[in-house]
Amino acid sequence: MKKAIILAAGKGTRMKSSHPKVVHKVCGKEMVNHVVDASAEAGVDENIVVLGHGIDEVKSALSEDVKVVVQNEQLGTAHAVMMANDYIGEDDTVVVLCGDTPLIESETLSSFFDFHKNGDFAVTVLTTSVEDPTGYGRIIRDSNKHLIKIVEQKDASDEEKAVKEINSGIYCFKGKYLKEALAKVGNDNAQGEYYLPDTIELIRLSGGKAGACEGATIEELMGVNSRVQLSNAEKIMRRKINEAHMENGVTIIDVDSTYIDKDVEIGNDTVIMPGCMITKKSKIGSSCTIGPDTTIENSTVGDDTTIKKSEILDSEVGSNTKVGPFAYLRPQSQVGNNCKIGDFVEVKKAKIGDGSKASHLSYIGDAEVGKNVNIGCGVVFVNYDGKNKFKSIVKDNAFIGSNSNLIAPVVIEEDAYIATGSTITDDVPQGNLAIARQRQVLKPGWVENKRKRDEQK
Ligand code: UD1
Ligand code: CA
Repeated sequence: MKKAIILAAGKGTRMKSSHPKVVHKVCGKEMVNHVVDASAEAGVDENIVVLGHGIDEVKSALSEDVKVVVQNEQLGTAHAVMMANDYIGEDDTVVVLCGDTPLIESETLSSFFDFHKNGDFAVTVLTTSVEDPTGYGRIIRDSNKHLIKIVEQKDASDEEKAVKEINSGIYCFKGKYLKEALAKVGNDNAQGEYYLPDTIELIRLSGGKAGACEGATIEELMGVNSRVQLSNAEKIMRRKINEAHMENGVTIIDVDSTYIDKDVEIGNDTVIMPGCMITKKSKIGSSCTIGPDTTIENSTVGDDTTIKKSEILDSEVGSNTKVGPFAYLRPQSQVGNNCKIGDFVEVKKAKIGDGSKASHLSYIGDAEVGKNVNIGCGVVFVNYDGKNKFKSIVKDNAFIGSNSNLIAPVVIEEDAYIATGSTITDDVPQGNLAIARQRQVLKPGWVENKRKRDEQK
């Protein structure tokens, strides 16, 4: 089995947060989950996260198949890995990752795993070379380029400090060698910590083959320790996400003002106008026009649909439908195909059938609206009596005249007509016209009489 141990016990003091560092989000997803997902995508069978602070909060952010172990005292990276010792089998391939490096790419991990396997190494470290290696562990190789050991900044000689190839903090081990080495690692060093990099020399000295794979970019290894770094990571990931969508045939008019979360899917020939946020697990079809200034959160949109200056939350919108400008779809709304939800229309927990229209100024809450229904301007589905919510049902081909109130619970049957300005309190049978307002009264000469009265005052 291939198992990953993801180190995330550090407190993250520099975040100045009451939440553990690794649950802070980058492009809508917790940092630790970016790492877990990259690991799983690269073929790791089981992810084990080492936690030390805010354990419950991190646990609740993780999916259920991720294992969690606790390191009560942070005595070093080798000590952290030791906490997962019970999960490590001698025949396992064990990958070590960090929970605060959200930019790590699954492709990088995959080729790193190949390097480890093809070289038949007992331990392999992923490395990169940088202009300024300050703070990182240095990769020490012999004259044949073979990996000898890793030296931490604080323990390095001047000659070692000059090395520009650095330890990424990502490793691959054969389980048996890792277990043996962990038992031997000491803490006699500048920081008094149990260093995981020390396992490399121990493994080599016990006859295992050690390899260094220079196969990552410094950008993707970027650790997040502060809010400034968090925002840098966000910027880098956002650019990558936007570029991936463009590669897939999505037009993004202004990448700098387009915010798309990591797990969003968008079909080709869809155009994203400036000022859009498309978040969580949203899924948008092909040939849509989204925006400008639109938020789509955790929602599904079909093909050929236009959504302009609107907000859509936890809802579904069909194909060839027009939404907005200034529409608000609140959670659990389902709008069908060939519909129109126009300006200042709010929909909440309502199902609207194919071909139905609410073109302006309506509230449609707790409702089931059939096909080809016309909801006139200013219609209110009155769903709340101050205490409880009630549901309205409007069946196919019904016509709700402008400025009507449907007081729920109420059923408007097929082909029924509601006269404009009606307040509907009772069900309307099929094919009926319901007029629920006072008849008009005319008073001839009233204006003239009033004028006279006013003059006499
Ligand atoms: C570590 C490596 C260094 C490498 C660098 C890459 C060691 C000794 N050094 O240094 O060679 O260049 O990463 O970023 O490993 N953690 C725990 N428990 C602990 C200690 C750390 O879970 O007891 C976690 C931290 O939360 C963090 C990760 O391990 O996610 C790395 O620890 P950190 O202290 O940041 O190591 P570095 O000094 O950066
Ligand atoms: Ca670090």
